[in-house]
Amino acid sequence: MLTITFICLGNICRSPMAEALMRHKVAEAGLSDKIQVDSVGTGNWHVGERPHRGTAKVLKYHDIDFKGITARQLNERDIEESDYLVVMDLDNYNDVQRMARHWGFEELRDLRFLLEYASDARDGMDLNVPDPWYTGNFEAVYQMVDDACTNLLGAIRKEQRL
Ligand code: 4NP
Repeated sequence: MLTITFICLGNICRSPMAEALMRHKVAEAGLSDKIQVDSVGTGNWHVGERPHRGTAKVLKYHDIDFKGITARQLNERDIEESDYLVVMDLDNYNDVQRMARHWGFEELRDLRFLLEYASDARDGMDLNVPDPWYTGNFEAVYQMVDDACTNLLGAIRKEQRL
């Protein structure tokens, strides 16, 4: 089983949205028995909570199931056991590297930004998924995450010959 783990700060807005969307795409591709999808936060403030009401609303609107998703914090096993670790912004990237170092890992060379997979990705572009916790714009984030997840799944299928 391949594991994709999406990471944001609180694990209530962006990464659960990515988890739900990617699960949906994996299921549509008939790959649910080969790829599992998870999400975590670098912070622990929201552990045990369901997705933010803005994320829940946008997922419902687009008919994307998110049952069973509750917030948890990144741990060592996520780093050991995930094949793809995918962050939402540069703060997440730096926090994950710092936490991994604290747990005794070497620098994570294959830690990825979701927006590397955006259809309009180009050198020097802003790779931060804006945090709707602050912006309130969940639909804009949904569109970005949806597009990048489609391309990420395509890249994984190519890399893994699935
Ligand atoms: P997320 O958004 O990282 O996309 O889940 C946030 C959720 C909570 C907080 C910040 C961002 N917070 O400060 O509690």
